[in-house]
Amino acid sequence: MSEPPLPPIGMLAELTHRCPLQCPYCSNPLELLKANRELDTQSWLDLFSQAADLGVLQVHLSGGEPTLRRDLEQLIAGLSARGVYTNLITAGVGIADGRIEAFAEAGLDHLQLSFQGARPATTERIGNHRGSHEKKLETSRRARAAGLPLTINAPIHRHNIEEVPEFIDLALSLGAERLEIANVQYAGWALTNRDQLMPERAAVDRQAEIVEAARERLTGVMNIDFVTPDYFAIYPKPCMGGWARDAFMVTPDGTVLPCHAAQTIPSLSFERFGPRSLAAIWTDSPAFNAFRGTDWMQEPCRNCERREIDWGGCRCQAMAIAGDAAATDPACEKSPIHARMAMLIDEAQRAATVPSKDEPFVYRRIGVVTEPA
Ligand code: SF4
Ligand code: FES
Repeated sequence: MSEPPLPPIGMLAELTHRCPLQCPYCSNPLELLKANRELDTQSWLDLFSQAADLGVLQVHLSGGEPTLRRDLEQLIAGLSARGVYTNLITAGVGIADGRIEAFAEAGLDHLQLSFQGARPATTERIGNHRGSHEKKLETSRRARAAGLPLTINAPIHRHNIEEVPEFIDLALSLGAERLEIANVQYAGWALTNRDQLMPERAAVDRQAEIVEAARERLTGVMNIDFVTPDYFAIYPKPCMGGWARDAFMVTPDGTVLPCHAAQTIPSLSFERFGPRSLAAIWTDSPAFNAFRGTDWMQEPCRNCERREIDWGGCRCQAMAIAGDAAATDPACEKSPIHARMAMLIDEAQRAATVPSKDEPFVYRRIGVVTEPA
């Protein structure tokens, strides 16, 4: 790298891997960390302070379920004191009375609440948690009453793609300012469950039309963000906005990563916060510099006019499907193995027609480590 990198703007803090839900598409790694591996309060506060010094403007507090951290109010207050915008990403299940109000009091700026389905039965089945839908409705009411702006997050796959119109109605009824229709990204647990989660092409096309029409109809009422499904795309997304470009994430034990699935790239090793400063890790760690910018690119990315639009797509998807993290993301139609995506869709459709058993998914649980398909 000739020029030093620009400072990051965003940080995703995975405060814990503990979670009351077991969603089969979770972006956490298959090998989940137990509570005794989590950073303590002071370490998170030091890390947040260094992030603010480095230029980070927004921190997304996530997990697992971040509200399982008893010190969450303290962590929010620490960020707020540094003027950092805080977004809490929660499953909204089992949050004790008074805590949402305490988060708002501590300076929380925004709450993002996931629904596994627009219908109670879907939410309960996908998250494998009885009563979860009603608890989420209650969380959203409490968030609005505490004056917090609300985003509803709807991770979409084969088992709830037909509920997209109901997700839109649900988000409106809850007074959400934003709805994120996020087609599942096949990394982490979603890669393990890919055959069960992959939607049919006709359903993806219908969904796109419904979202487009709703966006137009609801202009000025509610924003709808649409994370398109990579496997059905022509061009890839700029994953994380480009590798180590303007955001990074930190795992519960303080490992600093460019993205969720970075640890699936075996040639890279990642540093934990502590021995070296965040600034040093961001600026000169070999893993962060491995795919930064465009110098690392092979053809067809190297001379492509979109190379600074999508930054070659997702390195982890290239690793998972092409077996080479420096390859063009196979989601791109210019990739020599782009046709493999269509084959994987077909394979998933065939596998998904197998009659479902009692437990159709590999649910996300600590201790269940399964090799990706
Ligand atoms: Fe993006 Fe590379 Fe495809 Fe060009 S060839 S569109 S840079 S992934
Ligand atoms: Fe790692 Fe996309 S998840 S680059």
